[in-house]
Amino acid sequence: MNVVLVGFMASGKTAVGRRVARRLGYTFLDTDHLIEDEIGITIAQLFEEQGEAAFRRLESAVADKLCELENHVISTGGGILTQPGNLERLKLAGLVVFLNADLEEIIERLQRDTRRPLVQGGGLREKVTALLTERLPVYQQSDVIIDTKGKSVNKVAGDVIHSLVERL
Ligand code: S3P
Repeated sequence: MNVVLVGFMASGKTAVGRRVARRLGYTFLDTDHLIEDEIGITIAQLFEEQGEAAFRRLESAVADKLCELENHVISTGGGILTQPGNLERLKLAGLVVFLNADLEEIIERLQRDTRRPLVQGGGLREKVTALLTERLPVYQQSDVIIDTKGKSVNKVAGDVIHSLVERL
């Protein structure tokens, strides 16, 4: 069984995913890193040179392959569920867990971000609010929803493991 973490940028998917993987003895994977390894440039460069649509195509292709894995914890990019079919692809791959982070915590963490193309250039609060409002309905179709507000990485990791164990 795999665990697939979804949620907004800076919601803790990578930190929590690494912790869950370590505690379960599973392998950690990050879809953004898989894409960067494949194309040999950063996601920011890809957005700049070929646009968001090119990134989304690669991301959906990666989502399609995840069902071949076993005992992995997979952290996904925050926009993966915006593409039709990806929720179903991720559910085929494993237990889809939405890390539901607080808006203010997200904004705080993204304040100094320089690598995520969708939140550069000012107007951070407006950008995050608009994207989150658009994406929440699809995040909420995940198998499990974990509210992360005020919780440590360790606590959220424990909640993820608990949800997984309940379903084994
Ligand atoms: C994106 C989130 C990023 C990355 C890309 C687009 C998004 O991943 O995939 O910059 O659309 O929300 P993180 O969620 O790991 O920041």
